[in-house]
Amino acid sequence: MSRMPTFPTAKTMASSTLSRVLPMALLLTGDIVSAQTYKIDSDSDIKSTAKSLAENVLTYYHGNESGQTPGILPGPPPAGDYYWWEGGALWGTLIDYWHYTGDDSYNDLITQAMLWQVGPNKDYMPPNVTASLGNDDQGFWGMSAMLAAEVNFPDPPSDQPQWLSLAQAVFNTQADPGRHDDTCGGGLRWQIPFSNNGYDYKNSIANGCFFNLGARLARYLDNQTYADWAEKTWDWVTSVGLMDSDYRIYDGAHVETNCTDINKAQFSYNNAVYLLGAAHMYNYTNGDSKWETRLNGLVDATIRDFFKNNVAYEISCEEHMTCTTDMLSFKGYLHRWMTTLTQIAPTTATKILPVLQKSAQAAVNQCTGPPDGKTCGFGWSSGTFDDSVGAGQTMNVLGAVSSLLVGSAKAPVTNSSGGTSAGNFNAGSGSNSFTNTPAPITTGDKAGAGILTAIVLASALGTFAWMSLGA
Ligand SMILES: *[C@@H]1O[C@H](CO)[C@@H](O)[C@H](O)[C@H]1NC(C)=O
Ligand SMILES: *[C@@H]1O[C@H](CO)[C@@H](O)[C@H](O)[C@H]1NC(C)=O
Ligand SMILES: *[C@@H]1O[C@H](CO)[C@@H](O)[C@H](O)[C@H]1NC(C)=O
Ligand SMILES: *[C@@H]1O[C@H](CO)[C@@H](O)[C@H](O)[C@H]1NC(C)=O
Ligand SMILES: *[C@@H]1O[C@H](CO)[C@@H](O)[C@H](O)[C@H]1NC(C)=O
Ligand SMILES: *[C@@H]1O[C@H](CO)[C@@H](O)[C@H](O)[C@H]1NC(C)=O
Repeated sequence: MSRMPTFPTAKTMASSTLSRVLPMALLLTGDIVSAQTYKIDSDSDIKSTAKSLAENVLTYYHGNESGQTPGILPGPPPAGDYYWWEGGALWGTLIDYWHYTGDDSYNDLITQAMLWQVGPNKDYMPPNVTASLGNDDQGFWGMSAMLAAEVNFPDPPSDQPQWLSLAQAVFNTQADPGRHDDTCGGGLRWQIPFSNNGYDYKNSIANGCFFNLGARLARYLDNQTYADWAEKTWDWVTSVGLMDSDYRIYDGAHVETNCTDINKAQFSYNNAVYLLGAAHMYNYTNGDSKWETRLNGLVDATIRDFFKNNVAYEISCEEHMTCTTDMLSFKGYLHRWMTTLTQIAPTTATKILPVLQKSAQAAVNQCTGPPDGKTCGFGWSSGTFDDSVGAGQTMNVLGAVSSLLVGSAKAPVTNSSGGTSAGNFNAGSGSNSFTNTPAPITTGDKAGAGILTAIVLASALGTFAWMSLGA
């Protein structure tokens, strides 16, 4: 397709599915901003904008350079800005980029990165990151592996772990009894090793990643076991009040208070992760009315809470720019996962896509930063570059822009509708779950308790010793 004229014509606008649901006002917005560096008025504009943004985001990545570690963005702090999980999120963003644009320039880079970080048990728990390993961190890598299976991203060589089995491994380690306890009536903790800061916190994102993976695996493999876990997780999250009846999702709460001290901060990645999961449950159950209600309620709440005049807005931190590096990447997941959900639950498309189109336009409008006049900031609402630059800020815009091609993209496949990724129901078994109750206690109850304490202590010391060695 050749380059589109400066002013979109009715014909070029009609060429994209999105435009069919665009109100007239948006066409005018398009006209006004057409002098901007980045254009998204046609499929070819979207592709060239996305290509430039993908190049840009990869300037933050050095894992393919000699002496560097494949898969990760510079970090974790203080070694660099980024925690381990954001690398996993980056590869998911670039898998979507390939899926939507067809540009396979980075596929080898993505595969190398995704496979380097699988860890010894092929479950995304590499020992290097144990000291800050949360269920959410592991979950983000697992969700990127799941995405690779769903979009038929090229399968790794057969002697390497496969996308589906990696997603199953993450799920299985999180479904392990060692990760579940009775505090707060259930749910996953934030951190995995009990010696980590944050092990006493049960939060929405850790449980959201598990819910999301369960729902997607249920649909992909048409298997009720995964759906049962997703259902159970949703029920727990709502019963404990982490999601309220107005579909507000709160950050988390501490086990010391039996999860009654709910931190009410709301973040868009929570809505995104639960929305995509709910859409999969809706699809898996063939449009079950319970999931339809939940899905529609959450769609409305997300547009209510995280879009200001139809432009993505990170409500808890954007106003005073107190967003952390992590938070600076959430808008991208919001756009990408709301987009995918319109394929899984097509009745939501007319409500969601016009909002995302307008938001994406605002996203590119502010990409006018130095040195090239095309650098993106974080705030999309004001229309001007805000000087906040980084991998997350660029990933956000890349995700929003490449998702605009959804109208010509294939919906996520399943094992019975063209998916080629090989799975393994036992993937991840034998992993170090860190919190597993130690195996058979053969002496009496009283001694047993002592042994348990001794083992827990020894294991804590072991972890600390390992951390010192690692430092
Ligand atoms: C690393 O990947 C980037 C993006 O594909 C590429 O521009 C760069 O040349 C690569 N570096 C090395 C050392 O291969
Ligand atoms: C762990 O860290 C070492 C030392 O930096 C590095 O060589 C190795 O590739 C890392 N492993 C992973 C899975 O990142
Ligand atoms: C702790 O919270 C759970 C879930 O809300 C509740 O079922 C349980 O009764 C509570 N336990 C105590 C001791 O309050
Ligand atoms: C489930 O997803 C498929 C796309 O894979 C879609 O065609 C179908 O309409 C969806 N089912 C429901 C109930 O929305
Ligand atoms: C997935 O599909 C393949 C090919 O149709 C089939 O051989 C395999 O048994 C399926 N796997 C599961 C877990 O259903
Ligand atoms: C469904 O998934 C569970 C959990 O991984 C597995 O144990 C079971 O064998 C699967 N059932 C079928 C019918 O494939």
